[in-house]
Amino acid sequence: MNINPIQLFDVESSTFTYILIADDDKSAVIIDPVDHHWERDLLHLQRLGLTLVYVLETHAHADHVTSAGKLRQIAHAQAAVPSGCGIVPADVQLDDGDIVRFGARDQIAVLHTPGHTAGSVSYLWRGNVFTGDTLLIDGCGRTDFQSGSSAALYDSVTGKLFTLHDATKVWPAHDYKGQSVSTIGWEKQHNARLAHRSKEDFSMLMAGLNLPKPKLMDIAVPANQNLGLPHGA
Ligand code: FE2
Repeated sequence: MNINPIQLFDVESSTFTYILIADDDKSAVIIDPVDHHWERDLLHLQRLGLTLVYVLETHAHADHVTSAGKLRQIAHAQAAVPSGCGIVPADVQLDDGDIVRFGARDQIAVLHTPGHTAGSVSYLWRGNVFTGDTLLIDGCGRTDFQSGSSAALYDSVTGKLFTLHDATKVWPAHDYKGQSVSTIGWEKQHNARLAHRSKEDFSMLMAGLNLPKPKLMDIAVPANQNLGLPHGA
């Protein structure tokens, strides 16, 4: 039994991919896989004798391309994605409150957490929350593209994620400082962007970031809306 996910990293985009293993059989789920790591990820699954049943996305990423389509083909898994992200070829469109079941009794709860993008979700599994780019360790995802909204992100974090148990482990989609995991209790107290801030204060802070457009955005978003497969595939 492993109540922690396996955490894998892509140095180029500072992206975390997670493998969740069922408590009582060899079923596994992968979250936010990256295109050029599909072989690495399959090797992990093979080494542990795991059967991949679902590939989950937290949103349509702008900074890297997913391997969801490829993993789905090779491992015969199902791609399950947030319904608000325009990822049409997925097998399952997920909405707030949905449950993804795998193994004999494992359950992943879907929390709609808009703000970074309108469709973004977080996934809650056995005391772990996979927050995508909604809540990062000591930060949060940007809210200035892909129908992002600082007000929505504030509500998602303070109204949903921060209501989870303080001991819930936070596993983000990215980290740029070498951090790997946090907790809801810690982020509630110490998150530099969100802790002890009003919505107005947070929105002003986000509006002043003036971040450059991600280099891969024009390629990555349409690719990810096709599960990372060439269009027409
Ligand atoms: Fe993102």
